[in-house]
Amino acid sequence: MTGRTTAITGIGELTTNDPGLGLVRDAVVVLQGDRIVWVGHAPVAPAADSVVDVGGRAVLPGWVDSHTHLVFAGDRTAEFEARMAGEPYRAGGIATTVEATRAATDDDLETTLVRHVGEAVRQGTTYLETKTGYGLTVADEVRAARIAARHADEVTYLGAHLVPPGADEESYVDLVCGDMLEAVAPHAGWADVFCERGAFGEAQAERIVRAARARGLGVRVHGNQLGHGPGVQVAVRNGAASVDHCTYLSDEDVEALAGSDTVATLLPACDLSTRQPPAPARRLLDAGATVALASNANPGSSYTTSMAFCVAIAVLQMGMTVREAVWAATAGGARALRRHPADARAGQTGDGAVGVVRAGARADLHVLDAPSATHLAYRPGVPLTWAVWRAGTRVV
Ligand code: NIG
Repeated sequence: MTGRTTAITGIGELTTNDPGLGLVRDAVVVLQGDRIVWVGHAPVAPAADSVVDVGGRAVLPGWVDSHTHLVFAGDRTAEFEARMAGEPYRAGGIATTVEATRAATDDDLETTLVRHVGEAVRQGTTYLETKTGYGLTVADEVRAARIAARHADEVTYLGAHLVPPGADEESYVDLVCGDMLEAVAPHAGWADVFCERGAFGEAQAERIVRAARARGLGVRVHGNQLGHGPGVQVAVRNGAASVDHCTYLSDEDVEALAGSDTVATLLPACDLSTRQPPAPARRLLDAGATVALASNANPGSSYTTSMAFCVAIAVLQMGMTVREAVWAATAGGARALRRHPADARAGQTGDGAVGVVRAGARADLHVLDAPSATHLAYRPGVPLTWAVWRAGTRVV
């Protein structure tokens, strides 16, 4: 690696997520290009071409938001108000956004996406996945994937978000597994299916994930969001990288997740905003499952891009410790996207990995205006982001 080096000094508390380094006090991180090239204690730090002193603040890896739906148009304030007045959340609300999204221009969709990605970055998110799923025709899904690929780090094909109103279910599943998959696959790395009552059933979900895998995409599943169901088992059986939501889990589901590589991605802001019970984070962690936290930013069930808010809920309401929640929102998200140093996709040396602070990883850092990461839950709702480096560039 050649080029100028920048040392971030004066780090009071550094969360590395690297088992060999742990939590480092009085730390220095050296960046070069888009990579971290050195991490350690200040007294033994190498010289660098430039220095940024963060004045004793806490530093952690940038948030890895592994679940968002940000290619959309329209507004669902009225649906939210009705929900707060006692209406239940229903999968069918997705159709409202589908209608608005189809009617929007490419520019409208792109402007909205850029605005939300910028909002996330300003709050410390440095690696972000987003999905299609509000188009639900071949042309609209391809359009969403193309736009997503210009601004998100990872793109997921979610043609299987809902059977479009008026469509025949089985013919739609044929389309999702056939022509639509063929058309969207060149623009996406992942495929997803909403396996839930009111969306897609077990056999349909199984067919969709198998077709996507056969087409070379990684797979993930939306499951167990609104009630007990087969989503987790479909995901684990098919080697999905993650199953997202996991609000209603049986003991068998927890056991299956604990015995697999499938990450349980919990979406605390969604559970809160849809008035569902909090996902059973403690049961999953105690059983040995890998847990990620993500925002699920979308206009229906969770209209927030704040990963800090998700971490605070996970600690205050879901029984996670601050360390567990911060790991889940950084390294956990990286595992769900197979970008953690432990994943082959990140290269054997962890080259270009995200969610960790160690030599070779992408230079994604989040500096808090606080002395420790504990303040994320101790001071909920307070904007604590003080500086952000994304792939080596200071963006906040
Ligand atoms: O993850 N569950 C399905 N999809 C989104 C909701 C999208 C919407 O309501 O528009 C979710 O919660």
